[in-house]
Amino acid sequence: MTEHAERLARLAQGWDEAADGYEAYYVPRFAPWVATAVRALTHGPLPEGPVLVPCCGTFPELDALSEHLPGRETVGIDLSAGMVRRARERAARHRQAAVVQGDASTLDPRWSGTCAAVVSVFGLQQLPEPDLAIRSWAAALCPGGRLSVVFWPDITEVDGPFALLADVLRARVPAGDSSWERRLLPASSAQGLVIERDEHLSYPMSHPDATTFFDAHTRSGPLRALAVARGEAFVNQLREEFLRRAPAGEWHHQPRARHIVARR
Ligand SMILES: C[S@@+](CC[C@H](N)C(=O)[O-])C[C@H]1O[C@@H](n2cnc3c(N)ncnc32)[C@H](O)[C@@H]1O
Repeated sequence: MTEHAERLARLAQGWDEAADGYEAYYVPRFAPWVATAVRALTHGPLPEGPVLVPCCGTFPELDALSEHLPGRETVGIDLSAGMVRRARERAARHRQAAVVQGDASTLDPRWSGTCAAVVSVFGLQQLPEPDLAIRSWAAALCPGGRLSVVFWPDITEVDGPFALLADVLRARVPAGDSSWERRLLPASSAQGLVIERDEHLSYPMSHPDATTFFDAHTRSGPLRALAVARGEAFVNQLREEFLRRAPAGEWHHQPRARHIVARR
């Protein structure tokens, strides 16, 4: 297996294990970002054609899409079999919705120039080369088609559970390269897209306490893959330091995501 394939397999396994808990813990907390990403597609007419949802997870985008764009063919794509199983349960309640299991970094060429929209929430930052992925998503749009992508940038807050966890992690795991963030707009423009919005979206989020947040993040969230790869002793160390430095009681914060909207 190549290094790239191994990385994808580890990520998929992490999300397989996280899927049920993710739906319960994160889907309600991420709902405002999902709603804004979908609403951005409806500011102005959309051409005919399907809507693609790369990195759909359990597919929370679908509820908002079917409300705002009823009857539109909608296709979710996700790497994780566990997420796809959940997404298909949701899709079964909607007409004209389907879910494909696969790597959304490079879309199948059959979508090229055919889609009315591509909307994706909190998946882009996990891809190996996000700027190349956004290029592929842009290429799927037909003339007049719209892209709406929400993702977590390198810095989401200065204070709060995301910031503390990043700080605790940094002593043990080298920082990833975040230079791709600067390449997203040039990559989209190179595909003929006109950028309509590039904004930060902050919404309030709360957690019953630091322990609940840490356990959700490492069992049902984005740190599941790392937890599986590094094992229990590593997670326990991380947990101990995180809880020692975290405030007591309910934890409220307002993390900041980045939202890019563009039109072909
Ligand atoms: C944080 S979840 C977001 C799910 C959903 N969009 C939401 O807003 O709740 C990220 C998802 O990206 C998926 N993912 C990560 N890398 C992927 C890839 N290369 N191709 C497709 N999906 C991927 C994961 O399996 C996971 O379901």
